[in-house]
Amino acid sequence: MTTYITTPIYYVNAQPHLGHAYTTIVADTYSRFKRLCGEKVRFQTGTDEHGDKIVKAAEEQHVQPKEYVDRISAMFRETWPLLQIEPDHFIRTTDAAHVAVVQKILQKVYDSGDIYFDEYTGLYCQGCERYLTEKELVDGNCPDHQKPPEEIAEQNYFFRMSRYQQQLIDHIHNNPEFISPERYRNEVLSFLSEPLEDLCISRPKSRLTWGIELPFDDAFVTYVWFDALINYLTGIGFPDGASFNEYWSVAEHLIAKDILKPHAIYWPTMLLAMGVPLYKKLHVHGYWNIDDTKMSKSIGNVVRPKELVDNYGVDTIRYFTLREMSFGLDSSFSSEAIVARQNADLANDLGNLFSRATAMVHKYRQGKVPEPAEDNAADKELEEAAQTMLRDYRQLMADFLFHRALQTVWDFVGMANRYIVTNAPWTLAKDPAQSARLDTVLYNTLECLRLLTLVLQPVMPGAAMKMAKGLGLAAGDERVCSLDHGGTWKLLAPGCLLPATETLFPRLEDDKSAVKKSAPEKTEGAKNEPLPEIDRDLVDFAYFQKLDLRVAEIVAAEPIKKSKKLLKLTVRVPAERTIVAGIAEYYNAEDLIGRQVLIVANLKPVKIMGVSSHGMVLAARTEIDGKERLVLSAVSDMVVPGSKVA
Ligand code: ME8
Ligand code: MG
Repeated sequence: MTTYITTPIYYVNAQPHLGHAYTTIVADTYSRFKRLCGEKVRFQTGTDEHGDKIVKAAEEQHVQPKEYVDRISAMFRETWPLLQIEPDHFIRTTDAAHVAVVQKILQKVYDSGDIYFDEYTGLYCQGCERYLTEKELVDGNCPDHQKPPEEIAEQNYFFRMSRYQQQLIDHIHNNPEFISPERYRNEVLSFLSEPLEDLCISRPKSRLTWGIELPFDDAFVTYVWFDALINYLTGIGFPDGASFNEYWSVAEHLIAKDILKPHAIYWPTMLLAMGVPLYKKLHVHGYWNIDDTKMSKSIGNVVRPKELVDNYGVDTIRYFTLREMSFGLDSSFSSEAIVARQNADLANDLGNLFSRATAMVHKYRQGKVPEPAEDNAADKELEEAAQTMLRDYRQLMADFLFHRALQTVWDFVGMANRYIVTNAPWTLAKDPAQSARLDTVLYNTLECLRLLTLVLQPVMPGAAMKMAKGLGLAAGDERVCSLDHGGTWKLLAPGCLLPATETLFPRLEDDKSAVKKSAPEKTEGAKNEPLPEIDRDLVDFAYFQKLDLRVAEIVAAEPIKKSKKLLKLTVRVPAERTIVAGIAEYYNAEDLIGRQVLIVANLKPVKIMGVSSHGMVLAARTEIDGKERLVLSAVSDMVVPGSKVA
């Protein structure tokens, strides 16, 4: 089986924002999901670079269109890796291969009589880059741009779209899955219930030169939509590339509702005129609003992907957008909503399940995957729940119901957490007669985590990688990378040694900054359930060894503006690094220079009040004269900075 999934090619008149990110995250997740199903996948995105809008944007920047499109297209291409989005092909409509194919197709359609020359007077909306019909106007304005369209009369080339209207209607009726969700299918059918007008597909060069020249009349360039839609063919080597034969029949386009008409009407009729089979499916999603208002430059609420990733982390953003938006409907974006999901779903439900389960295996079984004994009724129920989850997940993901797939997965996370609480491994551990039972409970919990790693891989590839590692599995292990191979229960190998684990998701404070907790065990217990005593208990030597404690010499210190407590320290270990320390109430910055202190050198960097802190200075918390204070750690003799403490 093969899959070909595309996103729209984005206009380069604006920089990438949350909306573009969402569509592209969805396409990437779907690709990864299909690969998890064992399919061969091609995922294509790119940029749409011709047309009036682009010329205007370039003029505003006082650069030539070509220079401008190169710059913005690169911004799109460079944004995707930040979101762990990995397209197989990035297409640009200024690519020579694309231009050649567009001209070939125009010539063919022209030769077959489906393109004609005519005079046209119409209502043109600059924002939409298309003529609007009277019926589309609201109070005389374009409903999307709140401006009256201009009346334009000019001679142009027209595509006989009307000729293919009935064929398209029949196709939609005969292929119920052609456009989904159903509301958009209905919208298209309702639009098609009125006679279609032919489509103006040229622009005179007197008005626009930044476009693909018509092969049969060099006084005109091609209308941007006729050019842009063809990207879906050129990207796979139409007309005779091997990839075209392999992928076209399974093409699935993903778009938002704003460009439904070009995709559901122009494009299929163009394909019919070209004699090329129609794409397989069109998936249409809704719009992201920001705090319930439209995202727009003029309002100044445009959300940039890079900021999101910097503030919340890539896994959180991918999870949040997929979980929060009911596919097909509009959704509201807010930092409060991200923080809520992060803390409840990721840090609490999933993160705690992972850290508790692996920590107990370390504590009670020296980090080895135990050999399970016979399952009891509760274990069998857990296994059944796992199988149901896998089945539902597979179906819902295939149907683009990502929010529901994740809901199903989280129901299972809840079940696994309850399984731990009900079976109370910490109580079993106290009774040597229960040793086999403890093995079974721990093993089954690890299996739940393995299946979760498998299903979360398309959504949060980074977190899934960490989880796989924590379960002693290599990133490419089939047990976490293939639904067919990994979808059975009890595949973890007893005896396998688990490495020490990292915290999957930090809890976030409810402002925009990701305030990461320093110690993994500090995460709060899953909703109202008692924390297992492990959280307050002894650690293995192996645990302790993971901490990289060093002697650091303070070479500079300064207060952090707007903070009473924090100092920014520059220390040598022996390389210089910055550490933020909460000691400003107890030490003068200048008194610290030259001091040697102990630090944790391998803490994950965190940003505190805008300063990146690379490690933690150790200090004793004490009381002097009834007042709390911190006293810095030290070595009893001067040592070489960077000396290891053990
Ligand atoms: O229309 N919410 O490009 P475009 C969700 N070049 N998705 C959004 C969004 C929002 N608020 N805003 C934008 C074009 N999108 C043409 C496409 S295809 C042959 C040519 C996403 O840059 C969504 O995918 O205006 C939408 O369809 C697309 O960006 C429009 O991108
Ligand atoms: Mg747009």
